[in-house]
Amino acid sequence: MLKDGRILVGKGEKEAFILPQMANRHGLIAGATGTGKTITLKVMAESFSSLGVPVFLADVKGDLGACVKAGDMSVIEKRLESIGIDPEEFPMRSFPVCFWDVFSEGGHPVRTTVSDMGSTLLARLLGLTEAQTGVLAIVFRLADDKGWLLTDLKDLRAMVAYTADHASELLNDYGNVSRQSAGAVQRALLQLEDAGGDIFFGEPAIDIHDWMRRDEDGRGYINVFHCAKLFRSPLLYSTFMLWLLAELFEELPEEGDLEKPKLVFFFDEAHLLFNGAPKALKENIEQVVKLIRSKGVGVYFITQQPSDIPDPILAQLGNRVQHALRAYTPAEQKAIRAAAQTFRENPAFDTEEAITSLGTGEAVVSFLDEKGRPTVAERVTILPPQSMMGTIDDERRRAEIEASDLYGRYDTAADNESAYEQITADKLRIEEEKAEEKKKEEEAKAAAKAEKEREKKEKEAEKKKNSRKKNSALGKVAGSTATSIGRELGRTIFRGILNILKRK
Ligand SMILES: Nc1ncnc2c1ncn2[C@@H]1O[C@H](COP(=O)(O)OP(=O)(O)OP(=O)(O)O)[C@@H](O)[C@H]1O
Ligand SMILES: [Mg+2]
Repeated sequence: MLKDGRILVGKGEKEAFILPQMANRHGLIAGATGTGKTITLKVMAESFSSLGVPVFLADVKGDLGACVKAGDMSVIEKRLESIGIDPEEFPMRSFPVCFWDVFSEGGHPVRTTVSDMGSTLLARLLGLTEAQTGVLAIVFRLADDKGWLLTDLKDLRAMVAYTADHASELLNDYGNVSRQSAGAVQRALLQLEDAGGDIFFGEPAIDIHDWMRRDEDGRGYINVFHCAKLFRSPLLYSTFMLWLLAELFEELPEEGDLEKPKLVFFFDEAHLLFNGAPKALKENIEQVVKLIRSKGVGVYFITQQPSDIPDPILAQLGNRVQHALRAYTPAEQKAIRAAAQTFRENPAFDTEEAITSLGTGEAVVSFLDEKGRPTVAERVTILPPQSMMGTIDDERRRAEIEASDLYGRYDTAADNESAYEQITADKLRIEEEKAEEKKKEEEAKAAAKAEKEREKKEKEAEKKKNSRKKNSALGKVAGSTATSIGRELGRTIFRGILNILKRK
């Protein structure tokens, strides 16, 4: 909910606000299962929308789409009372929502091209070794130099095969591509296809500006990325999310300090982004998170423990909501201590103790003030959402998708000309050239043979003529006929050769 142009998230001793101009300094929503993380996300997303800031959120459990329906006052009345908000001043309302889904079931399809995904992320997705990653990088460079677009996995497989076939010619300019490594990449690609990984490669590829829309009232769209199914494959899910970040980073211009973000991103189950990620990739994410801020994008991570997020990234998350954590084991106690220590101590209460005793929908929070400093920890009750809590049925979701302005833009896949077609055409061209060359050789051979025959016959005729000249007058006539026949034959052959030459 907005109050005086600020985002009111919760209320305790004081009201706790996220300042729009600090919203691109990223954030964290942490807490054990069922403590209220998703609802907090929803409360924030609604406020951003009201502020005219579009948001993109990963909906892992399917419980965020209900933003399309107004909430039910009877469900939230008590909470409002306990916070001290007059229900009259808290209107129940729906929000503009756009649904997306890589599987095209729960929303408009989200696709990208293999070229746009890039070799680094693909190598991670494929689980390649360093040597194989090197081969993949060569394959991408070669495709780039040739101007061949890698749209889907079919293109990439064709391109890997092409690179392996031309390895010796490429050695000097591109480096070594061993048959073994190329073979391993091909196998990994097949495995990825079998695991359904080809799903988000294709065209039309998403234009991220379609996530930055506002409705006619100026409210930002809440883009709900339905990923219940994608989430079942954590590697696919995390790679896709990383791609989104990279894409935003590359596509959006530098903005400096804005009054409010251009887009806010919420990553649910954020620990998956970092699980098993190689050091170099973690450093990449760290870099992107650091720099994307100045492009006007705020990134909010949602996870159970703050320790799920690598320290250098955690240090960049300025706006924090810590829901309850439970301490059953010494390791959990340690984690709670660590979580508490990330807050500026409030003398009014013990942060560590507070984190373990918070009720559902309560949190310890700290947001950045107008100077970018984290405020002291506040213990607050989070506001309820203005839209409905819970889920919507498939029918309603379908109706929303079909009623959307974007319906039809992405919904049918296209198979445009790309590397696969170009490599196939290239192969065909080479085969045709070879066939043509062979044909010409054969024709030339036949012509040479015929020429020899002619010469032989001419010589024989000459011989006979000479002997007849000597022997009889009748012989003269016969001889001239034979010679003219010989010349005719010669012309035919000559024309034949000309034709061959012309065809060249
Ligand atoms: N701010 C709130 N206002 C009203 N109800 C809330 C609030 N926060 C939580 N609740 C109630 O608690 C339930 C669980 O919250 P939520 O789904 O947000 O938990 P979660 O931390 O996301 O859990 P999980 O880790 O399982 O996804 C909600 O369905 C809702 O009924
Ligand atoms: Mg949740």
